[in-house]
Amino acid sequence: MSKLKMGSLAFMIDEIKGKKHLIRLKDGVRFSTQYGFIEHEAIAEAGDGGVAYTQKGVAYRVFYPTYSDYIMHIKRRAQIIYPKDSAAILMSCDIRGGQRVLESGIGQGAMSIAILNTLGGKGELVSCEIREDFASDAAHFIHEFYGEAPNHSIIIGNVYEGFDGVFDRIVLDLPEPWHVVKHCKEGLTNGGIMVCYLPTILQAVTLVETLKASGIFEELETFEITKRPWKIDGRSVRPEMWTYNHSAFLVKARKVEPMPVRETVKKEEPEDAPEETHEEEI
Ligand SMILES: C[S@@+](CC[C@H](N)C(=O)[O-])C[C@H]1O[C@@H](n2cnc3c(N)ncnc32)[C@H](O)[C@@H]1O
Repeated sequence: MSKLKMGSLAFMIDEIKGKKHLIRLKDGVRFSTQYGFIEHEAIAEAGDGGVAYTQKGVAYRVFYPTYSDYIMHIKRRAQIIYPKDSAAILMSCDIRGGQRVLESGIGQGAMSIAILNTLGGKGELVSCEIREDFASDAAHFIHEFYGEAPNHSIIIGNVYEGFDGVFDRIVLDLPEPWHVVKHCKEGLTNGGIMVCYLPTILQAVTLVETLKASGIFEELETFEITKRPWKIDGRSVRPEMWTYNHSAFLVKARKVEPMPVRETVKKEEPEDAPEETHEEEI
């Protein structure tokens, strides 16, 4: 069933240049384009996946926006986490319904929407943000795309100074996430996962060194995600000409109980010992 109705969002793509527009359908309003206009009522009637025409006969494909359509086309004031990275964060952090998740900062709420979608109404998301204006932008975008989120709260504050509560997962997208590591001793459950999004490798190095020195994090991973789109058009089959620039490094770590201090016993291996195999236990 089409989700398109008056009051809902619509995503319009013209047939000439493929230019994309995110709009909200309102009674008595026209969608004005360089190729003429379309009444919003006609767009709602076309429905999700349908087609609507300007009075000059130019076709626009009509969709209900996906998450990516929405967050890539909002008018934003802060950098957001792009879908290729937010997808990796959700998987690395193993976010699922029922968990308590802390996120900081909220920025424009792009990552918050991805987390709320994944929680599916179960569990809780707390977003800690230092700037009230960004918190209010994010609340607007979350409400516009996701709707009411009774399991989401926004706390205004400096997460470097600490946070209340104990969480199963922590997602950080701010300049100096290493200041949060010390608060994880009390604020992240053992076995809990933290994933940080860091534009520069120097940030990643400082964070990894802090995580290692803390003694309460193991299973560290540092990586980046590259998306390489290809053009497939007849005999022209090649990577797209434009390059997809670096976005950020992701650092994942898992909270542990500190290892008790004990005498280490070094096992001596016989020289011709067969190589150990690692079979997975099910
Ligand atoms: C790049 S934006 C986050 C974007 C967000 N992940 C998204 O996808 O929309 C970084 C945010 O961190 C916030 N921030 C920076 N330092 C902070 C701190 N110490 N405590 C809480 N928030 C902070 C900034 O105000 C900004 O909103």
